[in-house]
Amino acid sequence: MSILAIDAGTTGVTAVVVTADGRIRAKGYQEFSQHFPQPGWVEHSPEEIWQATLEATREVLGKVDRSELTAVGITNQRETVVLWDRETLGSPRRAIVWQDRRTADICDRLRAEGHEQRVAELTGLRLDPYFSGTKLTWLAEHEPHTWALVESGRYAVGTVDSYLVARMTRGTWHVTDVSNACRTLLFDLEGGDWSDELCDLFGVPRDALPDLVPNWGEVAPTDPAVFLGLSLPIAGIAGDQQSALFGQTCFEEGESKCTYGTGSFILTNTGDAVVRSDAGLLSTAAWRGPDGAMTYALEGAIFVTGAAVQWLRDGLQVVGSAAETAAIAATVDDTDGVVFVPALTGLGAPHWDPHARGLIIGITRGTTRAHLVRATLEAIAFEVRDVLETLPGLTTLRVDGGAAANDLLCQVQADQVGRAVERPEIVETTALGAAFLAGLGTGLWASTDDLRDTWALDRRFEPAGDREALDASYARWSDAVERSKGWAG
Ligand code: G3P
Repeated sequence: MSILAIDAGTTGVTAVVVTADGRIRAKGYQEFSQHFPQPGWVEHSPEEIWQATLEATREVLGKVDRSELTAVGITNQRETVVLWDRETLGSPRRAIVWQDRRTADICDRLRAEGHEQRVAELTGLRLDPYFSGTKLTWLAEHEPHTWALVESGRYAVGTVDSYLVARMTRGTWHVTDVSNACRTLLFDLEGGDWSDELCDLFGVPRDALPDLVPNWGEVAPTDPAVFLGLSLPIAGIAGDQQSALFGQTCFEEGESKCTYGTGSFILTNTGDAVVRSDAGLLSTAAWRGPDGAMTYALEGAIFVTGAAVQWLRDGLQVVGSAAETAAIAATVDDTDGVVFVPALTGLGAPHWDPHARGLIIGITRGTTRAHLVRATLEAIAFEVRDVLETLPGLTTLRVDGGAAANDLLCQVQADQVGRAVERPEIVETTALGAAFLAGLGTGLWASTDDLRDTWALDRRFEPAGDREALDASYARWSDAVERSKGWAG
């Protein structure tokens, strides 16, 4: 018996098959296009996300015996908003992605009208373009013809998980879970349901939103006619960062992980309590079981980490692949004074400035590609340190995601934060978490204790290096971050 897990991330879709021992048997992957229609705007084609899902799944199915599959788990990039026609399942426009900054002015306006405190109280979030709410307000204000069909009930509104469930079930189901819902600015975190007050504030008809289902337990069967001949129960759904927290088996209060993906996201399980931060962290839902019990988390959301490496590859074209960055960076001892603040889509935690933009400072005639590559890896470690400075109680950090495979990054990370960094054998933790949820929901695993037993350490990186020099480089970073703020007006 094994589980098919789909991880619909920001730059591509991964499909994995996970066996009962918690190992990844096979994997498929398909990247999709990023659209940047204006500076600061980021969009995806929903149809392309669906086609990438089919392609990645087709690839993984070619490597396993499909008769062993017993359930599907879905995890996804969060906050991104998708509209689709409930009948045809076609989308009237591209999805507006979590990284998109177009609603900075709407956030400023709502803040000026005095809504920030109440929004934070209800949602655990802040007024930032990152979250779904103002993206929907923008659509209502700028695309009234499309929005009229949302209001009439013809178009459904959802996040990527709900869109995929709709596609897999031929439009029969319109659902999401609390870990996605709580990122929309429309969800009452303590109440555990959509909020009429917030729907009114952001101008979103509640009927357009998906129904809430538990994070594990059977939701709906996939329709074989549209999903590669597969008829399997969808039995686990979670936003990718909460899924990674689950995949790292951080089930107890205080257990934490950092996932290096397009961005990096540090989550600490806070148990059944909503813990509020005054240092720029978000309060968020982790998961809700079939018995209705909520688990919460504190989150430090950093927008651009792996995406900075991707920009070196695709934008600047100074590296051929992300994998070679460790070797290139290792050819120099330091960045020779170069600091790169990758605020390419503004700054998230703990700074929260949608108007910040990327900055590279300290360049001289001696600066080489290796210095820039090293500065990029160091930036990732500095960004994570910015968040960990607000979580002084944390002693060990579990890391995962693509860049966790980079030894140099893990070591620089441990040095900068002065705490041990633990890398598990499986770093595809996001997809693993979705498989765990679906397996828990269908009885492949009886309890979270069974899942905990599958976690295995690959390598522990102990902090080293000269503390004074490390702190001095961090102070230079902090100075550069200040300079990047407010740039886009
Ligand atoms: O909040 C955005 C997050 O869900 C995206 O994650 O892994 O696609 O960078 P990732």
